[in-house]
Amino acid sequence: MRHLLAMADLTAAEIERIFSISEDLKAKYQQGIREPLLPGRVMAMLFEKQSLRTRVSFEVAMAHLGGSAIFLGDEAGFGSRESLADFARVLSEYVDVVVVRAKSHETVEAFASYASCTVINGLTDYSHPCQAMADLFTLRELFGNLKGRTFAWVGDGNNVARSLAVGCGRLGMRFAMATPEGYRFDQAFLDLLAREVPQLDLFVTSDPAEAVRGAIAVYTDVWASMGQEAERDRRRRDFAKYQVNAELMAHLQKGAVFMHCLPARRGEEVTDEVIDGPQSVVVQQAANRLHVQKGILAWLLGAKA
Ligand code: CP
Ligand code: NVA
Repeated sequence: MRHLLAMADLTAAEIERIFSISEDLKAKYQQGIREPLLPGRVMAMLFEKQSLRTRVSFEVAMAHLGGSAIFLGDEAGFGSRESLADFARVLSEYVDVVVVRAKSHETVEAFASYASCTVINGLTDYSHPCQAMADLFTLRELFGNLKGRTFAWVGDGNNVARSLAVGCGRLGMRFAMATPEGYRFDQAFLDLLAREVPQLDLFVTSDPAEAVRGAIAVYTDVWASMGQEAERDRRRRDFAKYQVNAELMAHLQKGAVFMHCLPARRGEEVTDEVIDGPQSVVVQQAANRLHVQKGILAWLLGAKA
């Protein structure tokens, strides 16, 4: 039984396999075919934080695959009504897979250690592997082979950045990061990168224009993630020169794209002009969450695709 708790759980070959299932299912979906690869399978979705994309795309993915989903929000009493171990042991006896969106990454790891079924990380403070998978799939659709290309990250060295850095390493992309000191990857994560993706070409700077040089994509995310609301004012000051705006986009090469996992704080990390502009692929990224998560579910649950 496999879990997907962080990007490092997937090898390059496994990422390719999931992309190939996702590509096939997306092409079929566009022809009006919803291949029921997982009939009768049930997915629970345990969410401690808000969500639009992750919740809906996973629920729809399971419906398209012939299975069903149960959403468990606050009313399930997770974290308050019984122990995490009891909750995980019991829930995983009923369902085939649990998608967990948790405040703390340790919660998802603990949940998976007690669960008797597959567990997928639907975002934690540490990582967001399903987002990174959809983003890399989007880049593959747009640019084909990604080996040797530069991916630019401008902003906080957060959950999404960490997952993309590992994903870029797996696929042979260079990861150029413009992030203020104090918000960069910590030593423990740098050690993980050295272990998991020793070949990763990681470039870190305080200058967004330098990071985007030669990049095929520039990606940003909110300056204050869910759970960091109290730090918002300080972060707005610290990230003020890291906005992705028309001036920064002018440093990108022709054909380069703008990416964001959404939701966005327009006017902070990105301007309306950029996110609504011709280089923005944010809707394609969000749409691909559906297709790639179908691939992830089919692969993890061993469906014959
Ligand atoms: N990008 C993303 O995970 O969006 P939600 O928080 O709406 O799920
Ligand atoms: N970094 C953001 C991503 C939201 C999808 C957060 O954790 O809130």
